[in-house]
Amino acid sequence: MQTLFLKSENKEDMIKAAAIIKDGGLVAFPTETVYGLGADALDAEASAKIYSAKGRPSDNPLIVHIAETAAVENLASEVPDKAKTLMEAFWPGPLTIILKKKTCVPDTTTGGLQTVAIRMPSHPAALELIRKSGCYIAAPSANTSGRPSPTTAEHVAEDMTGRIDAIIDGGPVGIGIESTIVDLSEGAPTILRPGFITKKMLEDMIGEVKIDPALENPDSTARPKAPGMRYTHYAPKGELTIVESSIKSGGELYDDYRMLDDIPDPSGGSAPSTASVINAINDIASNALIDGHRVAILTTEENADCFEAGHVITVGSASDGGTVAARLYAALRECDAYGADIILSEAFAGTDLSGAIMNRLIKAAGHRVIMV
Ligand code: TXA
Ligand code: MG
Repeated sequence: MQTLFLKSENKEDMIKAAAIIKDGGLVAFPTETVYGLGADALDAEASAKIYSAKGRPSDNPLIVHIAETAAVENLASEVPDKAKTLMEAFWPGPLTIILKKKTCVPDTTTGGLQTVAIRMPSHPAALELIRKSGCYIAAPSANTSGRPSPTTAEHVAEDMTGRIDAIIDGGPVGIGIESTIVDLSEGAPTILRPGFITKKMLEDMIGEVKIDPALENPDSTARPKAPGMRYTHYAPKGELTIVESSIKSGGELYDDYRMLDDIPDPSGGSAPSTASVINAINDIASNALIDGHRVAILTTEENADCFEAGHVITVGSASDGGTVAARLYAALRECDAYGADIILSEAFAGTDLSGAIMNRLIKAAGHRVIMV
């Protein structure tokens, strides 16, 4: 299949892209979080094509993207008041809401579930594509299943050229990690995937919000409720290991580095324990180099000069979670471009986005974490 390369600022390109969606084709497009791979959400055959283009397991449901809040009534059979409050507060934006589905939403779109994930993105090109096509657009991240999500059109092209009808280039995305997913289809509101909209931001609007227990303790036998959170994900080709200090800046021990609502530590990268992490990374890196490996190191601006060997990739300042999130997936892809077979990363704790960032990084590392 020939893949068309289109530009979001070109009106005719956007008309072409919308026509492809309307005709049941696949178009990758920018959103404010990551690039999505879109198809008509109510066309079972079109949304089925997404799974084969990505190599995605068929039980992993898609998010339906809409451009007007009124569309929710056409997709969901019940819309609780708390859902309405969240839509008003955070849409358009990086929040996905799970609700009970209407029968018009096909099983291929929901992975056979009786619920549907809905999000109104804020990226102007995403909204334009939805409106021009006249469709609701089902879209997972536009990467090959298991790879880091794409934050530029070039990343999409790496994975999807020849597999989809078109790619709309809208430049690098702003946020860089996927939307927060909150389940309002039954019981207490529950976060199924952490993201840019934090638990605190949700609780300020609707009161207590739970976190899917399987996320806080991924070693437990609890099954994550979002099917996509069960798979290895975001992974670079090399073996990624996180090296993390077991001591907080105050001297206290971390009891669980995975806590999603950990209190931000303003001292960030200057924590006294940072030295032990740097020493450990330097030791592992130099041994790996002696053994003939290609080594990449993911670190912060504060620590970038402390590493003696390996290809050092800086993801931003330790105190600036927004930049770390925006650069994380590109950094993982850069490890691949460098040909790294061993990748060592610091933990990026201490900001209010740490929960979301570490959730992705730990999955990318296949849970390999060394505490020093
Ligand atoms: O920011 C985002 O959410 C991006 C952009 C493109 O919008 N999309 C995205 O889609 O990250 P994807 O497919 O990569 O991740 C969707 C996640 C998966 O973990 C999936 O299992 C979960 O949402 N999901 C979708 N529908 C669900 C449902 N009905 N119940 C539970 N989880 C659901
Ligand atoms: Mg994805």
